[in-house]
Amino acid sequence: MDKLIIEGGVRLHGEVIVSGAKNAALPILCAGLLAETPFTLTGVPELRDVASTLKLLDTMGVKVSKDAEQVVLDASDVASFEATYDMVKTMRASILVLGPLLARFGTARVSLPGGCAIGSRPVDLHIKGLQAMGAAMHITHGYIQASTLHLPNRRLQGAKYYMDLVTVTGTENLMMAAALAQGTTVLENAAKEPEVVDLAECLNKMGAKIKGAGTDTITIEGVERLTGAQHHIVCDRIEAGTYMVAAAMTGGEVTLKNARADLLEAVIEKLREAGATISHDSNSITVKSDGKLKAVNVRTAPHPAFPTDMQAQFMAMNTVAEGVSTVIETIFENRFMHVQELQRMGANIDVQGNTALVQGVSALEGASVMATDLRASAGLVLAGLVAEGETVIDRIYHLDRGYEKLEEKLNQLGAKVRRSN
Ligand code: EPZ
Repeated sequence: MDKLIIEGGVRLHGEVIVSGAKNAALPILCAGLLAETPFTLTGVPELRDVASTLKLLDTMGVKVSKDAEQVVLDASDVASFEATYDMVKTMRASILVLGPLLARFGTARVSLPGGCAIGSRPVDLHIKGLQAMGAAMHITHGYIQASTLHLPNRRLQGAKYYMDLVTVTGTENLMMAAALAQGTTVLENAAKEPEVVDLAECLNKMGAKIKGAGTDTITIEGVERLTGAQHHIVCDRIEAGTYMVAAAMTGGEVTLKNARADLLEAVIEKLREAGATISHDSNSITVKSDGKLKAVNVRTAPHPAFPTDMQAQFMAMNTVAEGVSTVIETIFENRFMHVQELQRMGANIDVQGNTALVQGVSALEGASVMATDLRASAGLVLAGLVAEGETVIDRIYHLDRGYEKLEEKLNQLGAKVRRSN
């Protein structure tokens, strides 16, 4: 198991280039299944989850070619319409092949994703939405068996569907399915995340007719076919936010290139409230701080509210900020796995249900800790950057799922981070 070893106490300075968004790349790669001609993507991040998705598409018969600059997918000869348990258990976002397979081929067999460290992560809204479009959906032996073969022209039918909960991948799956449906689909209470918008922009380049992405009502007029397109993946707002917190906590000055402040308004607001100075232009953000931050209350909610994927990072920040703060997690039922690890570093945190009460301490102490999920791991890295002494983070394969070249980028900013196995 790879470990990260971090020597704390260094103020970060310099520039770092933000990669393409993991949570935009994953649905957009799956959208490649919808295209009858080759489909070219640039700005795709080098991540474990991207590699897993490309492997899944390859097993289905999609021709994948990839170099440092671009990924080209050719789904003109897909032979398998299945995502097995082995595949889905390593990456739950594999569920995103369900909508495209059903829309283009009329059949799909996708393993139910199990739960994960942060929660049970059901996909009932994905299934109900596809049923609303006429699909026959059966759950047998842990698999979703889906079909449209009983429908006129074997095509999904446009429908109006209200999602009980805001679901990011649920919105994405249904948007991709509706793109090739017969008639118009209206998704209400849709997720407004920037990654949903990026997917819609990519689908429209492929010939889809989608309006309203980024609002809570998305209208999709089904078309006969979609063709390949060229698309550049939107920057990763969560990676950017993570480095912004690192700059604020360590008391440095960092400029993030390929970062969009308009995607991070809630995070920027909270960092300013904590005492960081933030300036930006259209594609870069600069964070400056003396490292003496004030504790800030955080409550996660769907975009444009404060993102759950930044909750662990802000909890780490609050553990060494001045004062008491509450961190309330409203999206996932078990997204406090980083708490006990932070407590091992000397943090003063008391968890009651979905609320963590954080009392800032003067300093954290380096310790051996364990990564449990992607963003919890990011929180531990941030804590290690400011802790006294050395922090060893185990099981950092979680980090490699969502942060491209993490130690390289941090060391470029002056941090002392090394990987060992
Ligand atoms: C996406 O997960 C992201 N993953 C997550 O990022 C992110 O934390 C999450 O959205 C919330 O923003 C990708 O985009 C690949 P949801 P997703 O469906 O779509 C419940 C990261 O760290 N729900 O928006 O799986 C669900 O249990 C990852 O990059 C249902 O009940 O999340 C949760 O409580 C972690 N039934 C809430 O909705 C459903 O059918 C929001 O989940 C679907 C969801």
